[in-house]
Amino acid sequence: MRSWKEMILMEEATILVLLVLSLHMQKIYTAEVDIISYSSFLTENDTLVSPARIFELGFFKPGSSDNTYVGIWYKKISVKTVVWVANRDYPLTNVSSSMLRIDSVGNLVLKNYTDHVVWSSNSESSGNATAQLYDSGNLVITDGNSMKILWESFDYPTDTNLPGMKCGKNYVTGAEWHLTSWKSIHDPAIGEFTWSIDTRGYPHFVLRDGLEIKFRHGPWNGERFSGSSWPSINTYFSYNTVINEKEAVISYNMLNNSVISKSTLTYSGNLERSVWQEDKKIWEVIVTIPKDICDTYKICGPYGSCNTEDTQKCSCLDGAKFEPINKRGWVTGDWTGGCVRRIPLNCKNGTDGFNKYSNVKLPDTQTSWFNNTMSLTECKVICQQNCNCTAYANTDIRGEGSGCLLWFNDLLDIRACSKGGQDIFVRMASSELDHALTPLVSKKAGGTNIKFILIGVFLVVFVISLSTWLLYAWRKRHLSAQTEEGRSLNVGESGREAMELPLFSFSRVAKATANFSLDNKLGEGGFGPVYKGMLEDGQEIAVKRLSKTSSQGIDEFMNEVICISKLQHRNLVKLLGCSIKGDEKLLIYEYMPNRSLDEFIFDKRQSTLLDWTKRLNIIKGIARGLLYLHQDSRLRVIHRDLKASNILLDADMNPKISDFGIARSFGGNETEANTERVVGTYGYMSPEYALDGLFSIKSDVFSFGVLVLEIVSGMRNRGFVHSEHKNNLIGHAWRMHSEGKSMELLDSSFAEARNPSEVLRSIEVGLLCVQQSPEDRPNMSSVVLMLGNEGALPKPKQPAFFTDRNLLGTDISSTSYPTSSSNDLTFTEIAAR
Ligand SMILES: *[C@@H]1O[C@H](CO)[C@@H](O)[C@H](O)[C@H]1NC(C)=O
Ligand SMILES: *[C@@H]1O[C@H](CO)[C@@H](O)[C@H](O)[C@H]1NC(C)=O
Ligand SMILES: *[C@@H]1O[C@H](CO)[C@@H](O)[C@H](O)[C@H]1NC(C)=O
Ligand SMILES: *[C@@H]1O[C@H](CO)[C@@H](O)[C@H](O)[C@H]1NC(C)=O
Ligand SMILES: *[C@@H]1O[C@H](CO)[C@@H](O)[C@H](O)[C@H]1NC(C)=O
Ligand SMILES: *[C@@H]1O[C@H](CO)[C@@H](O)[C@H](O)[C@H]1NC(C)=O
Ligand SMILES: *[C@@H]1O[C@H](CO)[C@@H](O)[C@H](O)[C@H]1NC(C)=O
Ligand SMILES: *[C@@H]1O[C@H](CO)[C@@H](O)[C@H](O)[C@H]1NC(C)=O
Repeated sequence: MRSWKEMILMEEATILVLLVLSLHMQKIYTAEVDIISYSSFLTENDTLVSPARIFELGFFKPGSSDNTYVGIWYKKISVKTVVWVANRDYPLTNVSSSMLRIDSVGNLVLKNYTDHVVWSSNSESSGNATAQLYDSGNLVITDGNSMKILWESFDYPTDTNLPGMKCGKNYVTGAEWHLTSWKSIHDPAIGEFTWSIDTRGYPHFVLRDGLEIKFRHGPWNGERFSGSSWPSINTYFSYNTVINEKEAVISYNMLNNSVISKSTLTYSGNLERSVWQEDKKIWEVIVTIPKDICDTYKICGPYGSCNTEDTQKCSCLDGAKFEPINKRGWVTGDWTGGCVRRIPLNCKNGTDGFNKYSNVKLPDTQTSWFNNTMSLTECKVICQQNCNCTAYANTDIRGEGSGCLLWFNDLLDIRACSKGGQDIFVRMASSELDHALTPLVSKKAGGTNIKFILIGVFLVVFVISLSTWLLYAWRKRHLSAQTEEGRSLNVGESGREAMELPLFSFSRVAKATANFSLDNKLGEGGFGPVYKGMLEDGQEIAVKRLSKTSSQGIDEFMNEVICISKLQHRNLVKLLGCSIKGDEKLLIYEYMPNRSLDEFIFDKRQSTLLDWTKRLNIIKGIARGLLYLHQDSRLRVIHRDLKASNILLDADMNPKISDFGIARSFGGNETEANTERVVGTYGYMSPEYALDGLFSIKSDVFSFGVLVLEIVSGMRNRGFVHSEHKNNLIGHAWRMHSEGKSMELLDSSFAEARNPSEVLRSIEVGLLCVQQSPEDRPNMSSVVLMLGNEGALPKPKQPAFFTDRNLLGTDISSTSYPTSSSNDLTFTEIAAR
C-alpha cells in the first residue's frame, strides 16, 4: 500500500502532467495568449490580447502584400486597423516557423524560419522578462524580478498616435516621439512623411515631406495650437501639454473611454484624427491636417496672411502698411515673394512701435525666443530694445495672458482665423503706428501734478479702449466666423478694396442644379454653359459654370465678380454670389423666367408676345442700364458684348443686361482704351473696335444701336441679307430711312403700331448710334433723353458696316481678329467655326 504521502505526490504528478498537457493543448487549439515569456511565444496564428480584449498583437499581411509583419490592431473593430508595427522595415517573406518570443537575455525578438533575428526590442534584462499588451494599445516589456518597465511600444510610434501616447521631445533623456507614415497601404515601411517636433525657437510641431515642411502647427498657447479650431478641451479629447526647459511633450486623452479614437499620419501625408463609429462601421475623420490651402506652409510668404474666406487667399498682413513684392504675381496667385513694408523700420532713432493684429495664427517660431514667466509688458520692452525683434506675443493666452514670445526674423506662415487665432504685436515705423501712444507718465512728473497724470491715464485708457474696440470691430467684420453657407467672401484687388459677396458652396449649387443636369441647361454663353437651379428655400437661380477650358481665367472671373457685385440697377441682372472649388468657378445670378430677348424677337411665334409698347419699354430699359454702366455707376463700365442674347427678361418683360465677363471698369475720366484682345460678337461690334481693338463707351453705343434696329425689325443684323440690294440690317435700315420708308422696317407681328412717331424716333436713334465715327454717335444720356422726348433729332450720317454680305456671323472670344480685306469694311476672312 502506498502511503498517503505517495498518493498525494502521484496526484500532484498527474495534475502536473495534465497541466503540461492542457498547456500544450491550449497552444494547439486556441491561439490567444495574454503574456509572452521565455516559455510562451507567438507563432503565425497566435495573438497576444490585452486584458479587456481591446487590442491584439499578432502576425498580419497589410493590403495585398505577401509580406508578413507583427503588429497591434483593435480586437473589437470589424475593420482591421493596425496601429503599430514592429518589423515595419524588415518584412517576413515566409511566415511559417517564424516566432515572436522573449530570448534568453530578455529581448523581445522576431525570428524567421532560418532562426535569424529579424527584429528585436533591444531591451536586455536579467532574463525573466515578460511582454504584455495593455488595454491602451501599449506593448510593454517588464523585468520579471524588479517589475520595472524595460521597454514599451508607445516609445516607438509608427504612424499612429493613440490616447496616452506622447509626441515631442525630452531634452534631458534625449527621447523623441514622432510619427512616420507608411509607404502605402500595402507597405508599412517608413514612408516619406513625418509629424515631429521642431525645437528651434519655441517648440512646435511640423508635418514634413522628406525634409521639406508642408504644414506647421501654431505654437501651443495654453488653450490650443495657435490657429487650430480645436481647443484643448473639446467634446472628444483633452490635450496634456508640457513645454519647458526640460521637455516639450504633448499627448491627449479621450473624455469618454468608450469612444475609440486615434490620430494617424496617412501614407498620403495627412494627419487624420478619427473616431470609430460602431453603428456605421467606419472611422469618421474629425480633424485633417493640412485642412485647406491656407495650411500650406509659408504660402503667402513673409508678412503675408492667408484667409480661406477670400477668393484671393493671400493678402498682406496689413494692406495699408505692407505691399506685395511681386504685384503682378500676387494677382495671379503667385504669393511666394510675400510682402514688404511700405515704410521701412528705423530702429536707430528709437521711434519704432508696435501694431496689434488680432485673430491670427502666430507666425513660424523657428527663430523665436520665449520665456514662460515674463509679462507682456516686459516682453514689449525687450522687443523694443532689440532692433532685430520683429514682433512679440504671449505664450499663454489664458486669462490675462502670460509669457513672452519674440520673433527675430520676417514673419512667416500667418493665417487669419475666425476661430482659434490670437493677438500679435508687430514692429512698425513710427508713422505707421495705428494709435500713437504718448508715454504714460513723463519722467518729470512729480507728486504735485498727480491730477494731470490721472487725467492722462484716463485719456490714454479711453483712447486705447476705443481704438481696441474699433480694431476689434474692424477685424471682426473682416474675419467674422460664419457658417459655411452664410459666410462672405472678400473680393478685391490685393484685398484692399474689400467687398462682400456671398460665397455658395459648390455642393450646394451642384445640388440646386441636379448636378448640372442637361435638363437644367438654359444655354451656352461665351464662357460656358448656364444652368437653371433651385435653392433649398425655393429660390430660383441661374448658374453660369465657367468652362475649365474657357479663356476666362481667374483674372476675368475676378473682373466679372467685382464688376457685377458693385453694380446694382434694375436694368442689370443681379449677381447673388459665386462659388469656387478647385478650377471650377460658378457665378450665381437671379433667375430670369422669360430668359433672353433673342428668344422673343427672332422667333416667329414668340415675337407676337412683344407688342410695340413692350418693345419700346425694353429699348428704354436697356438704355437706362447702359447709361448706368457708362456714367452713373461708381466705376465706369464698358460692356463690350451687348447683344440680344445678353438681354434677359424678368417676369414682367423688363430687360436686364447680363454678362459682364469681358467688361472693363475704369476709374476717373478714362473712357477709351486700347486692347490687344478683341472680345465680342460680330454683328454688334463697332468698326473701330473690330478693326483696331479700340473700345470706348461709344462702341457700346454702336451695339445698342444695332440692338434697337433688331428689336424694331425682328431681324438679326448678323446674317441678314436683303434679297435685292444685299445690304445687312444696318444698311437696309439706312436705305429705308433715306427713302422715307422706315415704317417698312417694322416687325410684321406688330405692323399696326399705334404710335408711328415713336417707331420712327426709335429707328432714328438706332441709326444715330451706328454712325461710322464714334464722335458722331450720341452718348447714352443723350440716347435716354432722345427716347423720352418729343424734340427734333439730329440727322444721322451714313452708318458703318452697311454691307455685310460675306460675313458668316459667329461669336468670337479669342485673341485674334481678322483684318479688313478691302475698304468696304467687310469681314471676308472670318470663317465660321
Ligand atoms: C495557421 O493557419 C493557417 C490557415 O488557417 C494554416 O494553413 C496554418 O497551417 C496555420 N499555421 C500553424 C502554425 O498552425
Ligand atoms: C517557407 O519555409 C518552410 C520551412 O519552414 C519551407 O518548407 C517552405 O518551402 C518555405 N516557403 C517558401 C516559399 O520559401
Ligand atoms: C531570415 O532573416 C535573415 C536576417 O534578416 C535573412 O538574411 C534571411 O534571408 C531570412 N530568411 C528568410 C527565409 O526570410
Ligand atoms: C526568474 O524568476 C524566478 C522566479 O520568479 C527566479 O527563481 C529566477 O532566479 C529568475 N531568473 C533570473 C535570471 O533572474
Ligand atoms: C460614452 O460613449 C458611449 C459610446 O459612444 C456612449 O454610449 C455613452 O453614453 C458615452 N458616455 C458619456 C458619459 O458620454
Ligand atoms: C525716426 O524715423 C522715422 C521713420 O524714418 C521718421 O519718420 C521720424 O521722423 C524719425 N524720428 C526722429 C526723432 O528722428
Ligand atoms: C524668464 O524671465 C524671468 C522674469 O523676467 C527671469 O527671472 C528668468 O530668469 C527668465 N528665464 C529665462 C530662461 O530667461
Ligand atoms: C541683429 O542681427 C544681426 C544679423 O543677424 C546681428 O549681427 C546682430 O548682432 C543682431 N543684433 C542684436 C541686437 O541681436
